[in-house]
Amino acid sequence: MSVKPEIQGFYDEATATISYIVKDPTSNAAAIIDSVMDIDYAAGRITFEHADMLISEIERQGLKLEWIIETHAHADHLSAAPYIQEKLGGKIGIGENIKIVQEVFGKIFNEGTEFQRDGSQFDALFTDGMTYKIGNMTAFAMHTPGHTPACMTHVIGDAAFVGDTLFMPDGGSARADFPGGDAGTLYDSIQKVLSLPGEMRLFMCHDYMPGGREVKWETTVAEEKANNIHVGGGKTREEFIRIRTERDKTLKMPTLIIPSIQVNIRAGHIPTDQHGDKMLKVPVNKL
Ligand SMILES: [Fe+2]
Repeated sequence: MSVKPEIQGFYDEATATISYIVKDPTSNAAAIIDSVMDIDYAAGRITFEHADMLISEIERQGLKLEWIIETHAHADHLSAAPYIQEKLGGKIGIGENIKIVQEVFGKIFNEGTEFQRDGSQFDALFTDGMTYKIGNMTAFAMHTPGHTPACMTHVIGDAAFVGDTLFMPDGGSARADFPGGDAGTLYDSIQKVLSLPGEMRLFMCHDYMPGGREVKWETTVAEEKANNIHVGGGKTREEFIRIRTERDKTLKMPTLIIPSIQVNIRAGHIPTDQHGDKMLKVPVNKL
């Protein structure tokens, strides 16, 4: 808690995702968490405005990018990790249960045997409690499944990046109805996050601006514990499962789930067809 990383959030309007640059206050080392590749899905066109913004900020400050971290395999946006890595270096890391996600979606997308389901597309696979360095800071990964099996919360000094476990207090929690998701498991993971010190800063992966308020992505453990609409005020596991399950019944599939999954299970690489051309599939009636 004594280390206070410098944190900048970059909101992506198209997918309501927040990407972060996390800087070690005692060196020029930095990490990027949850980058976004822009896609015009209707046109099958990808661009890199959002990633370029992160890259120019890293360059402007003369930072050394050590890590490009995915809190999980996102279903609502495509990762720009390989593009950023090519420009700035750094290791691409995700939770080791990405192997389960690769197994599940490998079947749905009829990926052939050439698609490895061992996480080898990533440079590092985080396990529960695993520590790693960003400059002089020691960070640790905490397994927080429920939204997906591979979800990790990253604790870096006095800050925790919760991925899709919690949203801001007025937003509640992330959905738990994707393949491999589970509301009870998500509740247990949220309790792990809420057992961190009360003053710990929490950084969200998404904000959907409930009630039309302005965008927000930072809160604290104490705030979430007291006020979170799905878990705050000591809500029980049973209450949470009921709230979460009812809410999930009302949610449509994310607009970009089909391209996102295919790219994100490959650490942000776009699949290629037998001619070597970048190509995405649409499985019919399988999701
Ligand atoms: Fe997600």
